[in-house]
Amino acid sequence: MTATLGILTSGGDCAGLNAVIRAATDAAALRGWRVLGLRNGHLGLLASPPDVVSLTADSVRSDLLRLGGTMLGTTTKGDPFNYPGPDGRNQDVSEQVRNALKALGITHLLVIGGDGSMRVFDRLLAPSQIPWVGVPKTIDNDVPGTEFAVGFITAVTFVGEALDRLSSTAASHRRIMLLEAMGRDSGFLALFGGVAGGADVILLPEFPYDIGAVAAHIKNITHDRPSPVLVVVAEGVLRPDQDRRRRGSVGPDIAAELEKLTGFDARSTVLGHVQRGGSPVAFDRLLASSFGVHGVELLARGETRKMVAWRGGVVSDLPMAEAVTGPRFVTASSPLVRTALNLGIYLGESVCAEPREAVPNGPAQA
Ligand code: F6P
Repeated sequence: MTATLGILTSGGDCAGLNAVIRAATDAAALRGWRVLGLRNGHLGLLASPPDVVSLTADSVRSDLLRLGGTMLGTTTKGDPFNYPGPDGRNQDVSEQVRNALKALGITHLLVIGGDGSMRVFDRLLAPSQIPWVGVPKTIDNDVPGTEFAVGFITAVTFVGEALDRLSSTAASHRRIMLLEAMGRDSGFLALFGGVAGGADVILLPEFPYDIGAVAAHIKNITHDRPSPVLVVVAEGVLRPDQDRRRRGSVGPDIAAELEKLTGFDARSTVLGHVQRGGSPVAFDRLLASSFGVHGVELLARGETRKMVAWRGGVVSDLPMAEAVTGPRFVTASSPLVRTALNLGIYLGESVCAEPREAVPNGPAQA
């Protein structure tokens, strides 16, 4: 029987998904495998007939590497274990998904997804015999076991470039410019983007902050005079004086509060979904290519329930059981946190105390 590789993308999109599809298709085609693209995550497998597209080395040549989004479509909806039925009641349709994979003759499966998708497919595929491998992708970079997920560095680049643009207008008007990045639970994007773009303050969901301390930090680094200041906040941080997150953007409220407390002009920009779009930067293309090829190599070796990963500067892999323990969070011991603190960036109350004391001439206490 000819080996048939099924490829699907699941969860929120990001740059570099098409580059993974292209790499995996090329690597599979080189081995003489048939490749089927499964549309819209698991949703295409619930359609009748299943929504699939044949992929060949020819069909993925040239532009796919460069294109943002996913040519296969994706979904963040329709949990197969709680799938909305026609009577309005939720039902378990996981057996239907497995049957569709079998009927399509899928002998190997590559799931390109975030930590939530890895968990869903790990459970969904457990009763089946189909070998499968996961490829981590997300602008949040919160999948455990890998230093980088596909799409993250492109989003970081975009946040950095947005700060470059805000920096010149902040300087012209001597304003506080606040930028809200995505990241509901994990603050990697705000942290990496903030450091890349020279932020003075970075607020993450992981570290509590004190708005008075942020204002004091700003007044301290500006010597009490209106000066350009760059503040990055992750969308998941709480508004000032709030103990529970509400829906909607936090940035404008925090900017208004900082304007009140510092007396400096402040403006806010919410980046939103532009962080998910666009062409992947070179590093994401390298990551996506390495991940797609390594995923197929693992499957060709007869391995299953593995996730490909980037560790110590090389492509690698780990058992899926270790990858589904997520999400991963920024911690006080994350290397870039130390970097940020030593650059004098305000990161929140709990992380500032110890390194501030430990670093001679470090940032002044707010
Ligand atoms: O998980 C990736 C992510 O982009 C988060 O950073 C963000 O909070 C969320 O997806 C947005 O999801 P949606 O596209 O469903 O609004």
